[in-house]
Amino acid sequence: MITVNSIAELRKLVSEAKRSGKVVGFVPTMGNLHEGHLSLIDKAREVSDLVVSSIFVNPMQFGENEDLDAYPRTLEADSKHLQERSCDILFAPPVQEIYPNGLAEETRVDVPSLGDYHCGASRAGHFVGVATVVTKLFNMVQPDVAVFGEKDFQQLAIIRKMVQDLCIPVQIIGLPTSRETSGLARSSRNGYLSSQEKETAAKIFKLLNDCADKLRSGEKNFSKLEEEAKAQLAQDGFKPDYLNVANPETLKPSDTNDTSFVILVAAYLGSTRLIDNISVNL
Ligand code: PAF
Repeated sequence: MITVNSIAELRKLVSEAKRSGKVVGFVPTMGNLHEGHLSLIDKAREVSDLVVSSIFVNPMQFGENEDLDAYPRTLEADSKHLQERSCDILFAPPVQEIYPNGLAEETRVDVPSLGDYHCGASRAGHFVGVATVVTKLFNMVQPDVAVFGEKDFQQLAIIRKMVQDLCIPVQIIGLPTSRETSGLARSSRNGYLSSQEKETAAKIFKLLNDCADKLRSGEKNFSKLEEEAKAQLAQDGFKPDYLNVANPETLKPSDTNDTSFVILVAAYLGSTRLIDNISVNL
């Protein structure tokens, strides 16, 4: 695996590969890689000839009171994991390479409506930061295929729409959430949790499954379901941010005529914000 820090070095390597007809697969990350990320690398490996991954903790997607400074930076271990999974190029740029003119002067990509609810409502500007950096990374790497996890359901929906609206020639592949045996969704932020908290955190997925069962049994009173589930989270020791039953295409609150749903949840355990989701098709 070759590690590069500049756009110029990256472009040189990728254009050589493209000239020889190679399909380029890309997995953007913020590092602190776990098995979930590595399964995205495996998928990219399966569908492409040259696998590029990026590690960049993107300041634009963090709010003022969020964990940008504390976000785990583990480049050495990440690089080892990527090498073990046969990644070809690691792009690990400094902030200056991505935002040479500073954040305030930066052109931004704003995908309308899909960001109005859920994390978009709680984290102002977050998805503009995500859409902007993913657009920039796509322009730098110029991949044919990019792989994302479904744990960030709303992020994936926004990226799919962005690629379609801006005619970005990248095929987006979404992979099911990678989970611990307890059901806990794998996340870099799980590293903030004690082993006791990890046991508690696993209750989120159990609760999502209970909510999904209620929808399958014909529950149509979505706000009752949401309120009861949030009360359960509070009882289990979480501070719920949201638990919403939504239409998986529009991400708007579900309608009683809908037959497909996604239940999205965000909750704090101590100061750690955890997210998860489950899809239900009747
Ligand atoms: O999902 C993430 O890790 C980030 O939001 C992403 C897509 C790498 C953009 O910074």
